[in-house]
Amino acid sequence: TKLKTAVLVGSLRKESWNRKTANALIALAPDLLTLEIISIGDLPLYNEDLETAPPSQWTTFRKHLATFDAVLFVTPEYNRSVPAVLKNALDVGSRPYGKSCWDGKPGAVISVSPGNIGAFGANHHLRQSLVFLNVPAMAQPEAYIGGAASLFDDKGILTNESTRALLKKFMDSFQLWITSNVKK
Ligand code: FNR
Repeated sequence: TKLKTAVLVGSLRKESWNRKTANALIALAPDLLTLEIISIGDLPLYNEDLETAPPSQWTTFRKHLATFDAVLFVTPEYNRSVPAVLKNALDVGSRPYGKSCWDGKPGAVISVSPGNIGAFGANHHLRQSLVFLNVPAMAQPEAYIGGAASLFDDKGILTNESTRALLKKFMDSFQLWITSNVKK
């Protein structure tokens, strides 16, 4: 049976480099993995007061997330950290207390920026939350994708060969990481 991986993209922008990268990853996914981008843009901002009658978007998101074996984060960097929309999704999925959807799911992080440090700050800030959420995050290979604006053609297809090779290696390693860490 296939291992289901939820892909969370930290940008809501239609022409997002991160989304294009996520689509490239889907195309490069090795045999045992299925990847599905799950949407996070319609989740109301986390507010503990709402837990007594959670918004339907939260409930749907939590139930959906629970059906996946693993999580893959593809994120831009906003002001040297994780975009609020992605942090909000982490927070929504982590509650109610004791019922976190993230707990024990193996994960990985790829960060993408048109700038030249590849959103390193966001990548590592995200890992800080993943430690607490008990998402064992793959350490190697790291993937800080810089200069993103020159890696794709005008249809949004990844055309840069060295980036493609890195992402392929990343996905092959991630499959191994998932199979050895998947929650029993
Ligand atoms: C950015 N951008 C940015 N880039 C970066 O490398 N480091 C940063 O800290 C920031 N900070 C930042 C803050 C805010 C509010 C915005 C809107 C943008 C630029 C960012 O990398 C660029 O907009 C990317 O195109 C965003 O990713 P997507 O939407 O293309 O996936």
